[in-house]
Amino acid sequence: MNILIIGSGGREHALAWKISQSPHCEKLFVAPGNAGTSQVAENVALRVDDFSGLGRFCVDRQIGLVVIGPEVPLVKGLRDYFEAQPDLHNIPIVGPGHSGARLEGSKDFSKAFMVRHGIPTAQARTFTAAELDEGLQYLAGQQPPIVLKADGLAAGKGVVICATVAEAQQELREMLGERKFGDASAKVLVEQFLTGIELSVFILTDGKDYVVLPEAKDYKRIGDGDAGPNTGGMGSVSPVVFADSTFLKKVEQRVIEPTLSGLQQENIPYRGFIFIGLMNVKGEPFVIEYNARMGDPETQSVMSRIDSDWVEVLSACAKGELAGKKLKISDEFAVTVVMAAEGYPGDYAKGQIITGLASTTDARVFHAGTRQTDEGVVTDGGRVLAVTGKGASLDEARQRAYRTVAGIHWPGAQYRKDIGLDLINFGK
Ligand code: AMP
Ligand code: GLY
Repeated sequence: MNILIIGSGGREHALAWKISQSPHCEKLFVAPGNAGTSQVAENVALRVDDFSGLGRFCVDRQIGLVVIGPEVPLVKGLRDYFEAQPDLHNIPIVGPGHSGARLEGSKDFSKAFMVRHGIPTAQARTFTAAELDEGLQYLAGQQPPIVLKADGLAAGKGVVICATVAEAQQELREMLGERKFGDASAKVLVEQFLTGIELSVFILTDGKDYVVLPEAKDYKRIGDGDAGPNTGGMGSVSPVVFADSTFLKKVEQRVIEPTLSGLQQENIPYRGFIFIGLMNVKGEPFVIEYNARMGDPETQSVMSRIDSDWVEVLSACAKGELAGKKLKISDEFAVTVVMAAEGYPGDYAKGQIITGLASTTDARVFHAGTRQTDEGVVTDGGRVLAVTGKGASLDEARQRAYRTVAGIHWPGAQYRKDIGLDLINFGK
């Protein structure tokens, strides 16, 4: 069958790499893709929110499966658009419609959903701009640190952890009063701070049945030792040592199963990934957030550990036929190190020529922000590459990833040196 992946990051390159290995995949397209996806698929110059262009492309190329990578087309309702068109409504899609994507698109919705279905999560209250004074008063009675969350999509920047009440009050004024994040901060959640260790669990579901993917930990801060500002993610590791079978059983029983039965009770159809961001608080799982998609750079580590025919699994999800499907998961470790442009997550330059890409043997290089030019592959985003090493141990996987990273160059390239180190030292 012909397959279209929508998106252009490291996540989409990893999905394309995995999908291209399946005998069921005839022709693979990525819209818009990057220099890496063009090695395993054909890039299509269509934006992720060009719904009519994507629809016409699917008809012209007889696409038999669409996989939606990023959140924006999900929340904007790409699936709903396809379902409303007579010539598109039969095309199987991995990715929920607008109603399901609210799990990610509205933190107010997802918090209320968790409360309705008894899913463990931090306590929170939502305030609108009209309720700013009430919010400021409420903050005065809270114990710092205090977590503020913009309700809508804010490109990963909408969560602010405040060390004092005064800082939280100032932040609330900016978010609600001054619309710091535009309409995304028309509502703001004030949330209890949870202390623990974070990890992410992913499922692929057709709304009735599901498969659990390998879990992963990501590294959100720019600097070693979790210093500096938040980013989209600077690295990932799978498996996660502290997610033992007892903990994962609790996640299935207390989080995954009530999430799916909640969606069913509320008549929200859902075919796609659910990314569950968790805090492990003394062995008990609490949900920090849902995403309606896979994570980036978690996907690069997760795909590297899946041994099943990935197209069979994705296709079954998109057609509502996941019942009885099992995933084959490798016991090996995967470590992904993101290489970013100088200045990221602030302003950064584009167009730097990348050298050393051909000399990789130990690890797989997934492209994120890259572009093919006549002079070679150049940087074209903040996060540029994601390098994934595999090994029988975490240490071996790390060494393989870092050996490859050391051979890749462009002016100002930066990466964290400590991806996975905390897990090697865990419990020691
Ligand atoms: P999010 O954008 O929802 O992934 O949140 C960004 C980061 O903020 C998370 O990865 C956590 O590190 C942190 N965070 C979010 N909510 C909480 C919470 N209730 N308690 C502690 N940390 C949190
Ligand atoms: N790495 C975090 C995310 O994709 O949301």
